[in-house]
Amino acid sequence: MLDIHDLRRDFTLKTLDEKQLPDNPLEAFEQWFKEAVEAQVYEPSAMNLATVDALGRSSLRVVLLKELKQGGFIFFSNYDSRKGKQLAGNPHCALNFVWHELERQVRIEGFAEKLSPEDSDNYFEVRPPKSKLGAWTSPQSEVIPGREYLEKLYADFEKQFAGKGVPRPENWGGYLVRPSLIEFWQGRSNRLHDRIQFRLENEMWTKERLAP
Ligand SMILES: Cc1cc2nc3c(=O)[nH]c(=O)nc-3n(C[C@H](O)[C@H](O)[C@H](O)COP(=O)(O)O)c2cc1C
Repeated sequence: MLDIHDLRRDFTLKTLDEKQLPDNPLEAFEQWFKEAVEAQVYEPSAMNLATVDALGRSSLRVVLLKELKQGGFIFFSNYDSRKGKQLAGNPHCALNFVWHELERQVRIEGFAEKLSPEDSDNYFEVRPPKSKLGAWTSPQSEVIPGREYLEKLYADFEKQFAGKGVPRPENWGGYLVRPSLIEFWQGRSNRLHDRIQFRLENEMWTKERLAP
């Protein structure tokens, strides 16, 4: 058996100073995101999304950040999926980015709201045709009888929309996560990591340092 506890790493790449980050955490995030893209981090837009069900039980999955605007973080999904139902019951959620190549993590807490149908249409419009059909084909998070079921659905929708545009399914669209807390974490030597947190209070962001 592999000795998991021996897989230890000292983080020495970078440092994070309060003054390095802009006072607006969304600007700070944009700066870090740009650096992640420039460093060719693998899937820089992949973020964990945590939601809770009606009994307060949490669940977590990866989604892709598609836009940073309207004061928050935008991803797209199926509104009837497990996450969609959980967000409809409780819009409080959390996001987490890990950019190992830069020894960085960003934690976000806030609440999710659906994008307007027009904004979802605009994004759906620029998706590749096969992805558009994929959105129709997946009753996301439902139990299905087998792989063939999906392939048959895909073929049926392909026929149905042949020669016409593929419209956005009504149960597919965007969510905007409006943040109330954002933490930037930079790994440092000897576990003395840098953690700078932004908290929204009375519509103003407060910047503070946390113990690692
Ligand atoms: C790299 C990666 C990117 C993903 N991006 C999305 C996404 O943008 N939207 C989405 O609905 N699911 C995405 N998924 C699939 C989700 O992780 C998840 O399986 C799916 O949304 C169903 O989750 P749910 O049952 O909790 O609703 C992605 C998975 C991975 C690994």
